[in-house]
Amino acid sequence: MNSRGYRLWPMVILPLLTWLGSSECLDYRLGISVKPSFYNLRISVQQDVLNPAAPSYKFDGDVEITLQSVDADVSQITLHKDDIDITTCGLYTKGELVENIAIQTMSFEQATQQLTVPLTQALVVNQDYLLKFKYTGKVQTRPEGLFSSSYLDEETNTSKMVLITHMQAINARLVLPCFDEPIFKAKFQVTIERPSGFNAISNTKLIKTTDEGNNRFADQFDVTPIMSSYLLAFIISEYKARGNSTLAIYTRPSYYDHTSFSYSVAERALPAFNELFQQPYQELGNEVFQYATTPIFRHNSMENWGLVIFKDKVVLEEPGYTDGWAQKEFTIRNIVHENAHMWFGNSVTIAWWGFFWMQEGLARYYEFFIGHELYPEYQLDQQFVVHKLQHILTTDSLYGTQPLTSGEWRVQTPDEIYNKFSSISFAKGASFIRMCRNAMGSENFDRAVQNYLKEYHLQNTYPSQFVAHLKSNWNGFESDLDSFFGSFTVQEGYPVILVKLEESGYSVFFEQQRFLLNPKDGSDVALTYTVPITFATNQSPDFEDLTPQFFMYAGMYKQTFDKPIEWIIVNKKQSNYHRVKYTEPLVGRIQKALTEINHSYIPVENRAALVDDLFNFAHADMIDYVDVLKFMEYMSTETDYIPWYAAYEGLTRVSKRLTPQQLPNFNKYLSDITAAVYNKLGVSWSSNDKVLDVYNRNLQVAWLCKYQSEDCNNQVRQKFEADSEKPTPDYREIFYCAASRAGGYDRVLQYYEKETNAIDREPLLRASSCTRDYRTHYHNQIIGTGSGNDVSLKLIALAQLYEQNPDLITPIFQMVTEDITQLANALDSWPKTAQALSDMADYFTTSEQRTLLSDFYSEKYALFGSSAEILSKALTNVDSNLDWAAKRLGDLNKYLAQRNGAAGLATTSLLMLMMSTLVSFVLKQQ
Ligand SMILES: *[C@@H]1O[C@H](CO)[C@@H](O)[C@H](O)[C@H]1NC(C)=O
Ligand SMILES: *[C@@H]1O[C@H](CO)[C@@H](O)[C@H](O)[C@H]1NC(C)=O
Ligand SMILES: *[C@@H]1O[C@H](CO)[C@@H](O)[C@H](O)[C@H]1NC(C)=O
Repeated sequence: MNSRGYRLWPMVILPLLTWLGSSECLDYRLGISVKPSFYNLRISVQQDVLNPAAPSYKFDGDVEITLQSVDADVSQITLHKDDIDITTCGLYTKGELVENIAIQTMSFEQATQQLTVPLTQALVVNQDYLLKFKYTGKVQTRPEGLFSSSYLDEETNTSKMVLITHMQAINARLVLPCFDEPIFKAKFQVTIERPSGFNAISNTKLIKTTDEGNNRFADQFDVTPIMSSYLLAFIISEYKARGNSTLAIYTRPSYYDHTSFSYSVAERALPAFNELFQQPYQELGNEVFQYATTPIFRHNSMENWGLVIFKDKVVLEEPGYTDGWAQKEFTIRNIVHENAHMWFGNSVTIAWWGFFWMQEGLARYYEFFIGHELYPEYQLDQQFVVHKLQHILTTDSLYGTQPLTSGEWRVQTPDEIYNKFSSISFAKGASFIRMCRNAMGSENFDRAVQNYLKEYHLQNTYPSQFVAHLKSNWNGFESDLDSFFGSFTVQEGYPVILVKLEESGYSVFFEQQRFLLNPKDGSDVALTYTVPITFATNQSPDFEDLTPQFFMYAGMYKQTFDKPIEWIIVNKKQSNYHRVKYTEPLVGRIQKALTEINHSYIPVENRAALVDDLFNFAHADMIDYVDVLKFMEYMSTETDYIPWYAAYEGLTRVSKRLTPQQLPNFNKYLSDITAAVYNKLGVSWSSNDKVLDVYNRNLQVAWLCKYQSEDCNNQVRQKFEADSEKPTPDYREIFYCAASRAGGYDRVLQYYEKETNAIDREPLLRASSCTRDYRTHYHNQIIGTGSGNDVSLKLIALAQLYEQNPDLITPIFQMVTEDITQLANALDSWPKTAQALSDMADYFTTSEQRTLLSDFYSEKYALFGSSAEILSKALTNVDSNLDWAAKRLGDLNKYLAQRNGAAGLATTSLLMLMMSTLVSFVLKQQ
């Protein structure tokens, strides 16, 4: 599976509450006495299910499960089902009926979805039986089990139905009675009975189609490899395939042309993994590799063996609309991710959901690092650090995080299972894998993986079995490894390494503590970790060798050098899973080194880590924000995307809390520290742009123009007025947003109004909503009829107005509250109106604004009925935001004011003037 990972909080708290609240202790796990080995499954759908006008939402099923008892005295069989009505059930052996089981004698427990089939005599141990069911199931409308979806066929202007499956984690039981846990691997043979005019695809190749008469056909598919039930898949549709009988992408006919890029990625991804794992895909047991798309899906993609399913937008590219770099990157990453699952997940499967990271962590890792090998222009190896590692370090420092590995008993209920589908399994899992591969060396790691995949082919595994292979291929550190693996997989969280330089410069001290954003939140502050330590110094600035210099446990460590060192950077390339906090004078010296030397020999990952760590220490109140912004002065020569991404992630929280009066000083600071990068990238796209330059320009233009860099706004206005060339899809919204803000509102709005392609409608509305002429936009698009009756678009437009013009929030609030009934009418809802005001108030930064809100509340709360509560909560939220800013940003604002003293302002404006002249000169030359 591939998705962004669920947000953590509700997923952690809900299961806990459910568990505390349940009085009886249910057993959610099936016993292991009975083992299935083969499912012969026949699914039959009628024409009416596929008729959009009158879908019946039912299908017929018929399954014969070959099973054996491995224990004596087994006189009942328990397996799963959900939303299925069984009509007949019989037990057979050696071709003879043993008994028919009356439906009413079976018992079913809703909470555990377990069906128990009673037998009149015990099963003979190790003898094959056939348990046959006939049943009817429901075609779901939510994307789980067998579900239906529809799309508009442009050629015929008619609606078409598709039936698609999604079984992970526990939804195969919606399609057939089965042993629906990953450990019960079996072979499946699927037959789909369908009306003519449709085609069926499933995990394996089609071997036979039988004409059943009455315009009905039965498609029989080859036997699958031994696999878990959650990997079963089939689709009934009018899709058309690109490719051949062994590698194909299926989608609706009008999208056929949009799959050529994804097909080319698919062609490259599979050989790369065949080579890496030294075990060709076909030899895993399935000849075919098909991809298909679906209009609705809960995740981006799902790795069903031989039939990977993607949400439409993941693999479809429409020229001029969705063929930008970001979209291509998304396609590459998803395809590579699902390819990795054919080995990690499908061939070798976790024994239980508590070990989900062993599939998702590995797949996420390869998504970036094999993706990087195949398409180096995206620098996915570097992007991983800011997009995955640094994000998960934040998540993993909150109360309610979870360890990678959860013991089987801790993951029982459906909620507990889905709780493992968290970003911890994906991003921390991938970060852990990256740490291991870098520390042990890629050759050793790859050999360990090859051996592991061969040893457990078609089996289920536990983390200890994976880790054993890593250990036996790791040279050195033998005595540290068990403790290292344990502390990062069984324990939650991670440490910050405190680094202190002895005055003489001859030694450095290291110490660890758990990093928590709020150490008082109830988390266990005493956890310690076995941490691989790598470092480089000015004496020995080697950042390439990522082998640990040593492993550190609790307590103080001392490293001594031959000559005094000027600076040290710990955790090369942020390869290991921890933060680093330097004590002065080290921070200043590192900053100086970055400023004075050609900083590109300190890797971008480390530059980004320095900035991200500092922001997090400030978020955790371990340092002042001034320390961070001072450090970031080095960035006036920084032109790489990776550190800039980290910087803007951190600044988001700070800039949102600055008052309109404080903004000019912040804007000036921003213009100064972006001098080099802005000079390099400018505001115009170019066909020579590297991918990360494109992403980087997006960041810079979005921030600089929003924070009123005069030059940014001028350049954008000139570019926009000078030519009407449509910006590339990557840059379109950001450039048009800046243009709308810089006076191009009318034309951007026209683009929105004329755009007929749904893909660009919302981005263009968002872009036009960046205008500073908020009155006109509000009257036309929000309370007027410009956006039709689409309330969600109106809300987006309103939010953009103040988010994109932070200095205008007060007059925007006053305008909206002048006549609140107008907004309530436009949104057709008082609760939505209250929510819109509450969202706006989340951006309030002054006590005057708070007064505006409280006065409004006193006068008008009665209009809102019960949703007035949303407004009173918003007031509390404003209080705590103001409080936070007063406590935490006082020194920062002083610092910004001081650094922008009159002299500084004069020289830089001159510089800006010169630069802008230069840029416009360059522009004119083009
Ligand atoms: C497509 O069908 C819809 C409803 O059936 C109709 O309103 C619309 O005008 C048709 N569009 C075209 C281009 O024929
Ligand atoms: C199908 O296409 C793939 C990718 O181009 C190719 O590697 C494979 O050999 C083809 N298979 C057949 C049976 O033609
Ligand atoms: C800085 O170093 C990098 C790599 O070592 C090199 O590519 C670049 O040209 C250097 N830049 C300057 C301004 O010397």
